Amino acid sequence: MKNNTSEPPGRPRRSNVISLTKSNVAKIRPSQAEKPRHRAYRSVEDMVFDLRPELPVYCLRPATISAMAKRFLKQFPGDVLYAVKTNPDPRVLRYLVNAGVRNFDVASIAEVKLAHAAAQDARLYFMHPVKSREAIKSSYFDYGVRDYSLDSIEELQKILEVTNHASDLNLYVRLAISNANAAYSLSGKFGVAFDAAGELLVAVRAAAKRMGVCFHVGSQCMEPEAYALAIDKVMALVDMHGVKLDILDIGGGFPSLYPGLTPPPLNAYMKVIKRALKTHEAKLAGCQIVCEPGRVMVAEGGSTVARVELRKGNVLYLNEGTYGSLFDAGFPGFVFPVKAVRADAFARGGMLSQEVAEFSLYGPTCDSLDAMKGPFHLPANIAEGDWIEFGQLGSYGKTMATSFNGFQSETVVEVADKPILTQMGVN
Ligand SMILES: Cc1ncc(COP(=O)(O)O)c(C=O)c1O
Repeated sequence: MKNNTSEPPGRPRRSNVISLTKSNVAKIRPSQAEKPRHRAYRSVEDMVFDLRPELPVYCLRPATISAMAKRFLKQFPGDVLYAVKTNPDPRVLRYLVNAGVRNFDVASIAEVKLAHAAAQDARLYFMHPVKSREAIKSSYFDYGVRDYSLDSIEELQKILEVTNHASDLNLYVRLAISNANAAYSLSGKFGVAFDAAGELLVAVRAAAKRMGVCFHVGSQCMEPEAYALAIDKVMALVDMHGVKLDILDIGGGFPSLYPGLTPPPLNAYMKVIKRALKTHEAKLAGCQIVCEPGRVMVAEGGSTVARVELRKGNVLYLNEGTYGSLFDAGFPGFVFPVKAVRADAFARGGMLSQEVAEFSLYGPTCDSLDAMKGPFHLPANIAEGDWIEFGQLGSYGKTMATSFNGFQSETVVEVADKPILTQMGVN
């Protein structure tokens, strides 16, 4: 039999088990033991063959993120604020900065710190309409934030009190707008209704150095005209109240591609937005135009690799689910593109089959909401021990993951291959 140890024959193998004495416990500090692994691979397959990962692995594709960011920056007729919540990984922020992004939409003091660390010269826009006093104070005095959104007189009062009635604030009234064309509605929680916005618009105009309005048509907006309708409505509103606008922020919502959710191409959105801005050209003279894209910038540039722990008929139990990075596969039920990977094919009875079957999935937690209906199209002979790559998860993926039931992974790697949809020739 082949001796596969490096020990000389006859000599007892050293045990891999370290007995925990007081002195070596001190050496195994938690920060060392739990240190996440960050590596770069040519492809997802290479990563799987090398790591045989027991826990989910989050893959980043720097070239894809960079290309998408450059494309968006080139096409949008104004300033682009990357919505940090979408994917706050410091590496992602670095790819975006390297691609030319210098403005960030932040929603918490933690995001302020991350964006500031990514680029000290970046301009940060605190676009959460409800902020703590501590977050306003630290963002204004420690990080030089001057741009804040709000949707109530109470929040305006709070911002003014905390900043000692600063005279250099750029304040944005968040307006409630229809999210009817979005796969993911963001309406209901934030935004002042149009018919109740008058008092706030006038008060903000009086308090702000520069005044803006902002809105969000909803995430994964499938209809370009939604932006034009919103711009028309907003322009009519500010006109009616006689307030001069310094900044028009048309929010995020620009879509990415998912099976069953194929939006028009990005340039169709840009065309509609440019047309709407042209319609109001005279009133918008000198007005800064901004947007807050998240998903469209990074979705394609990330994926999750999960392992099959059990197969029951056409149901697979995975080590990743809706309490992890696959949150959107539960509700609203995104069917992420998938690709299966098998290591040790010969030892395991053969390669993954070309024949495909429909599967639904469960995540690892005990909660029945940890279910992903799909259907996901995977090789018919997929089995325990195979891995599945889920694409389009650069946005709202790992950032949504919890440690519920003790399931959590911090392994992030860079891969140099193309995203699944490109490999499939879809994109
Ligand atoms: C205020 C704000 N801006 C921007 C975004 C990014 O939206 P999207 O990823 O749909 O572009 C969000 C998403 O929740 C948001 O709440």
